[in-house]
Amino acid sequence: MSKLSVPPLAELRKRRSAKWRTFPDDVLPLPVAEMDFPLAEPVARALHEAVDRSDTGYAAPTRDLADAVVGYARRTWDWTIDADHVCTVADVGIGVVEVLRRIVGPGDGVVISPPVYEPFAWWIREVGAHVVEAPLADGPLGPRLDLDALARAFAGHATAYLLCNPHNPLGLVHPREDLVALAELADRYGVHVLSDEIHAPLVLPGADFVPFLSVSDEARRWGLSFLSASKGWNLAGLKAATVITAHPAPKRYVDRLSPHSLYRTGHLGVIATVAAFNDGDAWLAEVLRLLDRNRELLDELLAKLLPDVRHRRPQAGFLAWLDFRSLGWGDDPAQHLLTTAKVALNSGNRYGPTGNGHARLNFACSPHTLIEALTRIATAR
Ligand SMILES: Cc1ncc(COP(=O)(O)O)c(C=O)c1O
Repeated sequence: MSKLSVPPLAELRKRRSAKWRTFPDDVLPLPVAEMDFPLAEPVARALHEAVDRSDTGYAAPTRDLADAVVGYARRTWDWTIDADHVCTVADVGIGVVEVLRRIVGPGDGVVISPPVYEPFAWWIREVGAHVVEAPLADGPLGPRLDLDALARAFAGHATAYLLCNPHNPLGLVHPREDLVALAELADRYGVHVLSDEIHAPLVLPGADFVPFLSVSDEARRWGLSFLSASKGWNLAGLKAATVITAHPAPKRYVDRLSPHSLYRTGHLGVIATVAAFNDGDAWLAEVLRLLDRNRELLDELLAKLLPDVRHRRPQAGFLAWLDFRSLGWGDDPAQHLLTTAKVALNSGNRYGPTGNGHARLNFACSPHTLIEALTRIATAR
């Protein structure tokens, strides 16, 4: 019996966040990457105490967050980070954009591997660079980085690569050898690797997360990691994240971030993130157990109710990438399902052309919601 129970739908619908306020009440919302679990108790306590102190000013220039990240990374992944190389930013998106601004010049290419988290392309365009695609390859063991495509992309005017590690929306945990090979390519062609590791705390049983900066000297020479507690502990609205480096060359870009970066970070976000990284292991372990069970349940439901929908079980996170192409619902099955089944998913075609006919489903919910969603979808066919 789980100690963490998801509140009933009527309670969840009282939340004011994007997941619960974007769609009307008759729609089951399974898109936005928020989790339905109650907050980790140490995080909730830290936030309550801050509110009780009326402690809602600016984030302070202390080492608390850096030290918490260092401790968590060492305990969890045996990854040694230097606290002096941890910089606080408001969120991963802002961190990536502000670092990219310092790396790319007008007209430079920045490489991504679709299907990938849609805002990667927005962030690249935001800094005036253009998107270069090196899609994931479909190997015998499933999708993985296409190192040949990456080599071709890096050879032609690319200055940076946005690595999604683990990879959203496929829940793909990149094997160490791919990351080593990627770092060699980065070194050969002089391409910076911005490794978005926001989903790393959510790697599920059966897979091991490999921090990009841990794989080689080349990775440290060219890499920057972006890590936060916002996916793992559901803190996205509180706005705190970190940029981590392990070599003076990429640290130069971080040192050139605005001295105001810290003050643009949420003070409550820092407080919650410190509590999550320092005291949130037990809660996270329980969440991973529940996500693992939901992952299993999703497999069973698909096999039983929607056997023509193709799906590869994710190795990380709470997002499932569903291939509806055999059902003839066109390029955007999520749109079809929103009207016919009253279930909201993310449209796969927004993750690049290889996402046509796919949709992304968030399974960080109760088993009951998952059963209801799949039943509605199966009935809509
Ligand atoms: C891969 C990835 N990066 C970044 C984000 C957003 O992070 P932030 O809110 O810290 O910008 C998400 C949110 O789902 C994500 O999946």
